[in-house]
Amino acid sequence: GNPNASLVCVGEAPGREEDLAGEPFVGEAGQLLTRIVNAIQLRREDVYITNVIKCRPPNNRDPKPQEIKACFPFLQSQLQVVRPSIICALGRCAAQSLLRTTERISRLRGKIFEFQKIKVVPTFHPASLLRNPQWKRDVWQDIQLVHKLLEENT
Ligand code: URA
Repeated sequence: GNPNASLVCVGEAPGREEDLAGEPFVGEAGQLLTRIVNAIQLRREDVYITNVIKCRPPNNRDPKPQEIKACFPFLQSQLQVVRPSIICALGRCAAQSLLRTTERISRLRGKIFEFQKIKVVPTFHPASLLRNPQWKRDVWQDIQLVHKLLEENT
């Protein structure tokens, strides 16, 4: 992603297509993520996109706590280098890992938190949005909040 990005989007882990491409969010969920960032007048190239987990979990199972712990320093280094003004945490894994909580994503989304002085806005994961289109309105609201915070920071 863009090393000068003001917005970093953090997902869960690479899936099959990401594993093959060596790039995050290139599959169907990734195409939806591109449309979500386009909705706030950003191009995908403007944003830095990454995952909590750096290797694909077998059969896309949920990452284990020790896997999150092992990968977390890499995410932390990425955030230190990019120093975005906003992090959008995509889904439960990213939100819970960054915020060190076990709270449900449905309760975290749409609110503003902080990770090492960087504002964090959690929202639903684009893959879960593909399965639950009724959450589109919520994600739309959350990305508008991200947009507002980005404007305030420029
Ligand atoms: N889902 C994720 O969380 N990350 C990806 O890179 C692709 C799908």
